[in-house]
Amino acid sequence: MGVMLKFSEWLHKHFAVRQFSPDRVPVETILAIVATARRAQSSKNCQPWTFLVIRNKETLASLSLLGDYAWHLADASFAIALVGERQSMWNSFDLGQVAAVLQLSAWEYGIGACIAAVFQVEEAKRLLHIPEERNFFAAVSFGFPDENARPARMGGRKSIDALTKWERWE
Ligand SMILES: Cc1cc2nc3c(=O)[nH]c(=O)nc-3n(C[C@H](O)[C@H](O)[C@H](O)COP(=O)(O)O)c2cc1C
Repeated sequence: MGVMLKFSEWLHKHFAVRQFSPDRVPVETILAIVATARRAQSSKNCQPWTFLVIRNKETLASLSLLGDYAWHLADASFAIALVGERQSMWNSFDLGQVAAVLQLSAWEYGIGACIAAVFQVEEAKRLLHIPEERNFFAAVSFGFPDENARPARMGGRKSIDALTKWERWE
């Protein structure tokens, strides 16, 4: 049995995966990841998201061209386009939360993930048949990590001091 890591220890080792093995993720695993992500919190518990699962390789390749840093979608086993109910600040906040939970829950199955910001939104909506009024600006790539998968940049994180203020701004 593997050693159980604390969440904080695990998170220190975790990184966004952009290089995937060709092995396909089974549909049951995709559903299990979605089932966990359903537990994400949302404003007034409105759960204002639809998980548009994309497994078709041609669609993934087309979508990968619609963001400047979305290339990793092309080699993903599947992607989830995060489609929100309406274009609003709080809906976008909720989509961000569920994107995080989706990626964390994937790791339970040894599956890596990375967000792809979609820049050509209108074109992407046409590609995926998403109604114009829906909130859509990001997809998440998923797949078993390639054995050479590495963080894009070993950037680490800013220091606690740089990120934290107490009681007042200044
Ligand atoms: C809102 C958001 C948008 C992102 N967009 C992209 C993207 O378009 N392409 C990409 O490769 N990574 C994207 N990322 C992933 C970030 O680059 C990554 O989370 C960050 O560099 C930390 O990486 P690490 O966990 O591997 O250290 C995005 C992340 C977030 C939260």
